[in-house]
Amino acid sequence: MKAKKVSESNTVMTEMVMPNDTNPMGNLMGGNLLRWMDIACGICAGKHCEAHVVTASVDQVSFQRPIRVGEVVTLEASVTRAFNTSVEIIVEVFACDIKGHNARRCNTAYYTFVALDGENGSPVPVPPVTPLNEIEQQRYDTAPRRRELRLMLSGRMKPEDAHEIKSLFAGVSV
Ligand SMILES: CC(C)(COP(=O)(O)OP(=O)(O)OC[C@H]1O[C@@H](n2cnc3c(N)ncnc32)[C@H](O)[C@@H]1OP(=O)(O)O)[C@@H](O)C(=O)NCCC(=O)NCCS
Repeated sequence: MKAKKVSESNTVMTEMVMPNDTNPMGNLMGGNLLRWMDIACGICAGKHCEAHVVTASVDQVSFQRPIRVGEVVTLEASVTRAFNTSVEIIVEVFACDIKGHNARRCNTAYYTFVALDGENGSPVPVPPVTPLNEIEQQRYDTAPRRRELRLMLSGRMKPEDAHEIKSLFAGVSV
């Protein structure tokens, strides 16, 4: 399968926080932000895989800074690495006011998507990623460790099979 560049599937999505998106304090609700993150990542994954994709997992997400009603939210999603039938996507969330002032980074998260065959819904192979700059290379190189950690935490991988992160647990009996 031919490798693809990160830029071929980069996805930028912009939303304005409307009253219906907020909690009683006028801040964007976490669930709404997660939904937008999922959509931006899903578009990015679909473009990279050129297939239907489903969300397999979302890594730990912290809501570091509140986003107010009326503010503009920009989500930037990029593929970091492809495995066999799954891809890891990083999404970065930025907010600013309608004048573009008070710009700030609010969240970062990793989503994993699995590409599915449109006919029977079974996982299908995905194209590899070619990292082309320092940031893309760093995200690519560290992706196997994140993958092992999330597969271990979801009970899909035994600690003894987690070769990339074994050293983190050296000396700890599990
Ligand atoms: C994701 C899903 C397709 C995996 O199906 P499966 O039968 O377990 O398939 P496999 O065991 O062949 O795994 C397929 C890939 O999914 C990955 N995967 C499965 N569960 C995962 C998890 N919790 N976290 C990260 N990756 C996961 C596997 O590592 C594998 O990736 P690889 O081929 O790149 O190594 C299936 O669990 C599913 O359909 N889940 C529901 C998806 C959905 O509805 N999402 C929206 C929820 S609101």
